[in-house]
Amino acid sequence: MNSGVLRRCAEYAEEYFEGLEQAPANATSTREELRRAIDTPLPENGLAPSLVLDEIVGRTRGGHLGSAGGRFFAWVIGGGLESAIAADWMTSVWDENVALPACAPAASIVEETVGRWLKELLHIPADASFAMTSGCQMAHFTCLASARNAVLKDVGWNVNRSGLCGSPQIHVLVNAERHGSIDRAIRFLGLGEDYIIPIDTDEPGRMCVESFRAAINTTEGPKIVVLNAADLNTGSFDKFTEIIPIAKTCGAWTHVDGAFGIISRASRRKIALSVGLDLADSWATDGHKWLNVPFDSGLAFVHDAEAHRQTMALSASYIDTDTVVRNPMDWTPEWSRRGRGYALYAALLELGKSGVEALVDRCCLHARTIVEGIGRLPNTEILWRPHLNQGLVRFLDPTPNASEASHDERTIAMIDAINATGEAFFSGTTWQGKRAMRVSVVNWRTNENDVRRAIQAVEQFSSQPS
Ligand SMILES: Cc1ncc(COP(=O)(O)O)c(C=O)c1O
Repeated sequence: MNSGVLRRCAEYAEEYFEGLEQAPANATSTREELRRAIDTPLPENGLAPSLVLDEIVGRTRGGHLGSAGGRFFAWVIGGGLESAIAADWMTSVWDENVALPACAPAASIVEETVGRWLKELLHIPADASFAMTSGCQMAHFTCLASARNAVLKDVGWNVNRSGLCGSPQIHVLVNAERHGSIDRAIRFLGLGEDYIIPIDTDEPGRMCVESFRAAINTTEGPKIVVLNAADLNTGSFDKFTEIIPIAKTCGAWTHVDGAFGIISRASRRKIALSVGLDLADSWATDGHKWLNVPFDSGLAFVHDAEAHRQTMALSASYIDTDTVVRNPMDWTPEWSRRGRGYALYAALLELGKSGVEALVDRCCLHARTIVEGIGRLPNTEILWRPHLNQGLVRFLDPTPNASEASHDERTIAMIDAINATGEAFFSGTTWQGKRAMRVSVVNWRTNENDVRRAIQAVEQFSSQPS
């Protein structure tokens, strides 16, 4: 018997989305208020399902950031396309375990289709393997595990059998401006942070080719190289066409962090920025950023499919290890999991190639318009004018002879003041030693009106004295 809670849930969802344009982009309840409402004693007796939903919606009111909406420009957080949200709901309704096709016949084919579609869309070699992970962090883990095992196999060491104790040491050469998820994956894989070699970068955040060449030529033993697509602050891509051939000559595996930037390869206007990316050995990205599907959507691609499968696959007596049929669990670190492919399948069906391209182009244009609009206001400075979807601005203390430290303080205070209006939401960053406000546009909902409102939210404070 149905409780009616699912219908009620759809009503709540529609109300939420209809209200997004008027809703504040910040959370309006304090942490203490939220704790008082949420952190109650465990009830002795349960509630009816529809009351549970009312309770959850009621207790968390004021505690949601507007990241689903078009005026949220902090970090790199996408929204959810309605079709992807609906598919995500149906994934829970069907509640299958996509570990094996036997447990989820359709879901496993949906994932295979999504893997193929994305390789085509992002111009990644068609013979690369893929895996659907919880996010880019675990996609890095998956790719770098494959890399670790492959570079050690090249020197005659079998990690699956012998572990890492006594193995030849691997060095990982990385862009100094990498995302922290790379370091975490390296730690999880037992490679050791001490063996990370950060390579200095130029102003846009790209690895310096000559520094890289010098470092790799003087590094002994197995090597992995990790490149950016794209830099978190500037959206700049490493110089793949120069770096990857050098890495290959030295026998290194090259991995690309494409959490958001790789999606720009769907745009004919932007693909030149990441030329040569397809030469790498593995790529990690997210569905839950620029592809606008709900969270729990990461993707790993590995050119040497056999290296990937040997790293992740397992055989057990009760499992059908038929290698003709693709077992999703042979490619991911997880065993049981939900059918992550549905939400991506829906998003790609809704958008098509031209829709992803238009989304990328639109976000890049909006990012540039916001940064340039803010840059025209008094006491502001553009630190990075977007060529992708990421830009940086700084707020200057108008006091004569103000120091760099007071520009930093002004920038921090301005971000807080803008966010408190609820009209737009931004996050801060430190770039080249300076505090800055980062402008990141990845949400399909962001439109020209949102862009205007964001600039106006800044304008009301920019001419005020510090
Ligand atoms: C450049 C970059 N790489 C990796 C990650 C980690 O991705 P996820 O949070 O999906 O695990 C992020 C997350 O913000 C990112 O921006």
